[in-house]
Amino acid sequence: MGGYNWLLVQVIWVGVILSGMATAALTAAANGSALPNCPNWCGDVEIPYPFGIGEGCYLNKSFSVNCTKSSDGRHRPQKRDVVVQQISIQGQIDIFMNTVEVCNNGSGLSTKFQFAGLRIASNAFTISNTQNVFIAVGCDTYAYLTGKQNNGNFSMGCMSICQNQSNVLNGTCSGIGCCQVEIPERVSNIILEVHSYKNHTKVLDFNPCGYAFVVKKELFKFSSVYLSSLQNNRTIPMVLDWTIGNERCKYAQHKPDYRCGGNSTCDDPENGYGYRCQCRKGYDGNPYLPLGCKDVNECLDPNLNNCTSPKRCINTEGSYTCSCPKWHSGDGRKDGASCTLNLGLVNKIAIAVGVGFIVLLVSSSWMYLIIKQRKLIKLRERFFRQNGGVILRQQLSRQENSVETAKIFSAEELKKATNNYHENLIIGQGGFGIVYKGVLSDNRVVAIKKSKLVDKSQIEQFINEVLVLSQINHRNIVKLLGCCLETEVPLLVYEFISKGTLFEHIHHKDRSLLISWEARLKIAAETAEALSYLHSAACPPIIHRDVKSSNILLDGNYTAKVSDFGTSRLIPLDQIEVVTLMQGTLGYLDPEYMQTNQLTEKSDVYSFGVILIELLTGEKALSFDRPKDERSLAMYFLSAIKEDRLFEVLEQNLWTERNEKQLKEVANLARRCIKLKGEDRPTMKEVAAELEGLRKMDKHSWVTVGSNSEETEYLLGEKSDSNKYDVAIKSSVVYDSMKEHTMVPFDGGR
Ligand SMILES: *[C@@H]1O[C@H](CO)[C@@H](O)[C@H](O)[C@H]1NC(C)=O
Ligand SMILES: *[C@@H]1O[C@H](CO)[C@@H](O)[C@H](O)[C@H]1NC(C)=O
Ligand SMILES: *[C@@H]1O[C@H](CO)[C@@H](O)[C@H](O)[C@H]1NC(C)=O
Ligand SMILES: *[C@@H]1O[C@H](CO)[C@@H](O)[C@H](O)[C@H]1NC(C)=O
Ligand SMILES: *[C@@H]1O[C@H](CO)[C@@H](O)[C@H](O)[C@H]1NC(C)=O
Ligand SMILES: *[C@@H]1O[C@H](CO)[C@@H](O)[C@H](O)[C@H]1NC(C)=O
Ligand SMILES: *[C@@H]1O[C@H](CO)[C@@H](O)[C@H](O)[C@H]1NC(C)=O
Ligand SMILES: *[C@@H]1O[C@H](CO)[C@@H](O)[C@H](O)[C@H]1NC(C)=O
Ligand SMILES: *[C@@H]1O[C@H](CO)[C@@H](O)[C@H](O)[C@H]1NC(C)=O
Ligand SMILES: *[C@@H]1O[C@H](CO)[C@@H](O)[C@H](O)[C@H]1NC(C)=O
Ligand SMILES: *[C@@H]1O[C@H](CO)[C@@H](O)[C@H](O)[C@H]1NC(C)=O
Repeated sequence: MGGYNWLLVQVIWVGVILSGMATAALTAAANGSALPNCPNWCGDVEIPYPFGIGEGCYLNKSFSVNCTKSSDGRHRPQKRDVVVQQISIQGQIDIFMNTVEVCNNGSGLSTKFQFAGLRIASNAFTISNTQNVFIAVGCDTYAYLTGKQNNGNFSMGCMSICQNQSNVLNGTCSGIGCCQVEIPERVSNIILEVHSYKNHTKVLDFNPCGYAFVVKKELFKFSSVYLSSLQNNRTIPMVLDWTIGNERCKYAQHKPDYRCGGNSTCDDPENGYGYRCQCRKGYDGNPYLPLGCKDVNECLDPNLNNCTSPKRCINTEGSYTCSCPKWHSGDGRKDGASCTLNLGLVNKIAIAVGVGFIVLLVSSSWMYLIIKQRKLIKLRERFFRQNGGVILRQQLSRQENSVETAKIFSAEELKKATNNYHENLIIGQGGFGIVYKGVLSDNRVVAIKKSKLVDKSQIEQFINEVLVLSQINHRNIVKLLGCCLETEVPLLVYEFISKGTLFEHIHHKDRSLLISWEARLKIAAETAEALSYLHSAACPPIIHRDVKSSNILLDGNYTAKVSDFGTSRLIPLDQIEVVTLMQGTLGYLDPEYMQTNQLTEKSDVYSFGVILIELLTGEKALSFDRPKDERSLAMYFLSAIKEDRLFEVLEQNLWTERNEKQLKEVANLARRCIKLKGEDRPTMKEVAAELEGLRKMDKHSWVTVGSNSEETEYLLGEKSDSNKYDVAIKSSVVYDSMKEHTMVPFDGGR
């Protein structure tokens, strides 16, 4: 075996291109994996410690490498006669090993290369069982692999035969032209030998030689071509595993020659007799050097870190961390929790923003309200001044002695009382304006009248009226409680009268039955009393100007209350007649006033006369149901009287024997009230007295018919044919005498 001849054949190794570096390699002081001041490279092969070139650079002799210059001028690391292709720090070296062969040259067997041995193998080096296979190629071939295993002899064999080239299958190595055997662990110091049974004589034409070799699995794929041509390729790549020491980590770690450096761990390989070192995770370098394991900057290589963004990678000792952008939380890793928006912070921000927004909203709306309120107050003040509030207040303060003066209400108060002028509270509506029912804060029920626009030039007059009317305290006149001048249109506040208007009671067919004659007479008397009071008791006199049944309200006891002085005017003391624009209601309007435009107290008397007729007949003051010349109730009534039809036109059920006299008297009174000429009409005072007298007559069963009663009957036309003008003239005479008779007995009784 001593005459082995190792032929070095150039092998162009994949990935070995850095030829320019080759010559410089030896001298270049290597920091990386070699000991300090030791060459790190031989040619293009790195020599990491424990390997080394030269004394002191290797761990022990087993790892000594010679760097020799081969025939082509390249430097190659060499161990004895074995060319080293690559040394990996993970524990492998790639080498070339020669094949063994036996050939029949036609005249006999050539056994020149029948045997080969790998002599570098010591305890440090074992045949890699995982990366190599033992192969024999040939059709008349058997081969042996012998060596050391666990300090004992070891051998294994492989036989390959074939009859015919066509039997051989490319890619399979199963005993036909090619056989392959897995190599067990811990095999070292191997010797290969190959033999033939019959000198290849039977297959000489296509397979003169038999071969055997150990090869790196991944590089060998059997082809039938090899049966004839493999003789040209005598070097085959194979892999050795290397370890250091002679024992496992467990024991080696406690020995002084333990070689694993900082930041490394010890590793027991399956194949081998010693141990290996390995850099910890996150470190890289040569673990066999004391400071060989260096921290890996994972951030430089996206494959080494899992950070969502390379910018957010932070290298740490032996590891790395990922950070998250501002306002985010998480570990920033693709394989981890990644980065999520920091909800806690977001919530805080949201709350802060929300609170800020609410504060802003509240304060701004508060400001808005204040400004609006101020505007409203200013507006109210303006209206108050415009509406003469200042004058009124002065006037009122002058009248401090009188308790019953008008109150000046605030707009707010009345708004509240009417529930902001809710339409459900409207109790009256017409040309004059709108009347609301309202409840003041002291629970007083009031009627609040929203008049139509007031002429600004007449403000003083309006104020005067308010003052005067508020002082009127008559049980048959709706009391004016006060006013509000803070609105554009002044509001008047009256006492509330529960039962509505007389008009409704008379002309609503269901209700009319309810009002008895006595009640009607009472209402008439009270109304007359009120008007009389306005004309004479108040100073200066007040003309109502719009006396009509719908302006006479009734309370729970059917007590009449004269209302609506919206058109009323005070008569200045120095004149009896007032020239005004025509105002009033058709049907009630004094014809004299219509002609002359001159207003006197007698106009109210005319209107009251119409009311009396309404009470008697139940007919409306103006009705288009009646013939043309009787549309006016006054005309209708006069023509009825003229034709002696009084009892025909009377309201149903009014007539009783007991009532008859009274009915006639009242009819006569009505007739006098509606006389064409104002001066022919009685005064309101006279009318009131007469009606009161009639009532008393009823109450006291004063049924004695005096001469004036007969006269009245006569005058009412029952016994007379005289025309209405005659009647009218006579009536005033009778009236005077009657007045004396009726009033005298009772005036003293009041
Ligand atoms: C070796 O390392 C030293 C400092 O550690 C450095 O200055 C030198 O350039 C390195 N040499 C090589 C070839 O990497
Ligand atoms: C290196 O070469 C020297 C001299 O040729 C020889 O003595 C030595 O054994 C060689 N060492 C190896 C490991 O090949
Ligand atoms: C094979 O060759 C050898 C020597 O060349 C010879 O001694 C031997 O007899 C041969 N064997 C056969 C089976 O031919
Ligand atoms: C064949 O081999 C035999 C035995 O080794 C040798 O004597 C002979 O010269 C060889 N013939 C040729 C042509 O190489
Ligand atoms: C192993 O083989 C060698 C030579 O091949 C031999 O000298 C030795 O005795 C053998 N050892 C054993 C235990 O068989
Ligand atoms: C080899 O096989 C081919 C086809 O199968 C056949 O023709 C030939 O005779 C065979 N040769 C021998 C030596 O058996
Ligand atoms: C095997 O492959 C080679 C080429 O790679 C070819 O020449 C040969 O004929 C193939 N042999 C068989 C049995 O397929
Ligand atoms: C020899 O054969 C092996 C396996 O087929 C191959 O990997 C190697 O490159 C060959 N060597 C040469 C010099 O052709
Ligand atoms: C050298 O190292 C190898 C492997 O670690 C070991 O088997 C051998 O005993 C060592 N030799 C010396 C002289 O220390
Ligand atoms: C691990 O490595 C770091 C630098 O990479 C170094 O500072 C530290 O000392 C090392 N630890 C040990 C035990 O050597
Ligand atoms: C990245 O994450 C994947 C999946 O969790 C994991 O398999 C991989 O090892 C990680 N890589 C690094 C460098 O941490």
